[in-house]
Amino acid sequence: TKTTVGILGAGPAGLLLARLLYVAGIECVLLEAKDRAYVEHRQRAGILEQGTVDALRECGAGARLDKEGLVHHGIEFLFDKERHAIGFPELTGGRTVMIYAQTEVCKDLIELQVSAASAGAPPLLFETSALAVDGANSPNPSIRYKTKDGAEHTLSCEYVVGCDGFWGVARAAIPEELSKSYERTYPFSWLGILADVPPSNEDLIYARHPRGFTLLSMRSSTVSRNYIQVPNDTDANDWADEEIWDEIERRTETKDGWKVKRGPITQKSVTPMRSYVHEPMSYGRLFLAGDAAHIVPPTGAKGLNLAVGDVITFANAIKHKVATGSEEKLQKYSDNCLRRVWQAERFSYDMTNMLHTDPNESEFVDKLQIARLTRIVTNKAAATDTAQAYTGFPLD
Ligand code: FAD
Ligand code: DHB
Repeated sequence: TKTTVGILGAGPAGLLLARLLYVAGIECVLLEAKDRAYVEHRQRAGILEQGTVDALRECGAGARLDKEGLVHHGIEFLFDKERHAIGFPELTGGRTVMIYAQTEVCKDLIELQVSAASAGAPPLLFETSALAVDGANSPNPSIRYKTKDGAEHTLSCEYVVGCDGFWGVARAAIPEELSKSYERTYPFSWLGILADVPPSNEDLIYARHPRGFTLLSMRSSTVSRNYIQVPNDTDANDWADEEIWDEIERRTETKDGWKVKRGPITQKSVTPMRSYVHEPMSYGRLFLAGDAAHIVPPTGAKGLNLAVGDVITFANAIKHKVATGSEEKLQKYSDNCLRRVWQAERFSYDMTNMLHTDPNESEFVDKLQIARLTRIVTNKAAATDTAQAYTGFPLD
């Protein structure tokens, strides 16, 4: 079989790209290793930047998001037992973010893809694993893949986009001698919970505490999503539900007696933290997007939003090619993405280091963390910098 754009992976990056291409009238085929239910229920990110929300609306995926998404006008930092609000619109010329889970974004985009397929577009192929991208630097790259029954096939493409996440196969098609990767690991992970209890606070709370970082987030007006810093290799099952709540309560104690609300925990899991960038993000007619090219630690909620920025950049570049015949924007794809990616890497790294306690660091670093937080909550320029980064870096 043959198509214009072959896409590996139906996470947020691959699904949004398929939608953007469909709307632009460019044919694509999307291959996904897992089944539909798995993709729709994988609990991950929760914050959508303004630009992400705008992009979803613009391609027709905004209906449920506009009904169910929660618009947030700021965040709070909690340290030394006091809470400090950072308001976004007043610091960013009106920008906000939205709580709408990655699971819901994926469900909405899959639904649109299913109806496009019933109108004649190629179907989304679940339980179909890409094995390798061949001929990336040739005029006709192809994807070798395996269906559920074990049969191997080849999809011939004009362009291939690897949206297959950090553990995918697309990145390996860029020759090692042309590749350079930059990486940092961290001596801590996040234990994340979902709980059937209304959020304890209207805004998200990012809390620094000597016992470790805590984030109070939410999924809806009835479901809380919280995270606590834990040592690497922690088994989520080693934490009893009440122990988790006790720890959250200790780390979010305030002088005014405010307390986190407890409720039944319905899900818990541990996420390791990593910073990673692969350069370049393209090779010949192969383009990498999202976690396939870069990972950020979750503090600051950039992962999903970066993936969205990449696929918008690719979609604009290929639309330009189709309209004008010029490959100029495709050739600039990697450089254009990497500028934005490194700004998000910097922000995520700074947020992570400002808020987590590193068991290998001294009290000097504790003092610097407090000084950084104090600067942000007392200085308008510092607060503006944080608010601009949190609400999103512009696309080139
Ligand atoms: P993914 O969502 O990883 O999608 C890649 C897709 O490719 C998957 O569906 C996978 O099954 C498929 N695939 C892989 N290999 C193949 C193959 N060979 N053939 C076909 N398909 C393949 N970000 C935040 O902002 N906040 C968070 O709280 C947060 N929590 C996270 C928790 C975890 C455990 C992880 C892993 C990430 C988290 N992130 C979070 C990051 C965010 O979820 C990602 O940045 C986002 O999912 C990136 O989207 P993507 O489409 O690039 O990749
Ligand atoms: C969420 C995750 C984040 O990493 C973050 O910074 C904010 C919110 C969340 O899952 O709700």
